[in-house]
Amino acid sequence: MSKSTNITWHDTTISKVDRNAQNGHGSCTLWFTGLSGSGKSTIANAVSNELFRQGINEYVLDGDNIRHGLNKDLGFSDHDRTENIRRIGEVAKLFVDSGKIVTTAFISPFRSDREQVRDLFEEGEFIEVFVSCPIEECEKRDPKQLYAKARRGEIKDFTGIDSPYEAPEKPEITIHSNLLTVGEAVEQVLNYLREKNII
Ligand code: ADX
Repeated sequence: MSKSTNITWHDTTISKVDRNAQNGHGSCTLWFTGLSGSGKSTIANAVSNELFRQGINEYVLDGDNIRHGLNKDLGFSDHDRTENIRRIGEVAKLFVDSGKIVTTAFISPFRSDREQVRDLFEEGEFIEVFVSCPIEECEKRDPKQLYAKARRGEIKDFTGIDSPYEAPEKPEITIHSNLLTVGEAVEQVLNYLREKNII
């Protein structure tokens, strides 16, 4: 629901099509989703590094970083996670309009939230990348020691422990991060972008 009235949408003079033509590549969102510790941020950043190296316009939106600024008013209740993802979706859409390939790394645990973001985009622009990793493995890695804290009851509503994670049903890409190296995962994503003629 929009609170504002008397507002009009203005199409900009330069369009996404113009920007993509000048850049020589398409723009899209690579929406990484998965448990904390599954490798989303690592792989998303590695994909962006490789795109950058190839001279492609890219940008990374990362969960922990966005929560330091734009979304610092949000916590981890279901309601706040939904609002977190809604805002990121809108930001990602602006980046795609600006001609970039944007990688996002948010747990984004709820299927309906991810589908709402997908609906913001044109066909083919929203690429859901499921970073699949057994929770036992994520918990063993526990890079931020958050699973340990959650098990001790020091963090509540922790995804996979006492807050749900709804895996995608038909993601465009599934990365089994416990079976691949980061380099192999990057190649899998880049191959998809090549197949779809985005890069
Ligand atoms: S999301 O669920 O709203 O998509 P987001 O990706 O922005 O989550 O943030 C997840 C990051 O916040 C985790 O990687 C972790 O570092 C931190 N975090 C802190 N508390 C929680 C919690 N209760 N559940 C999950 N992650 C948490």
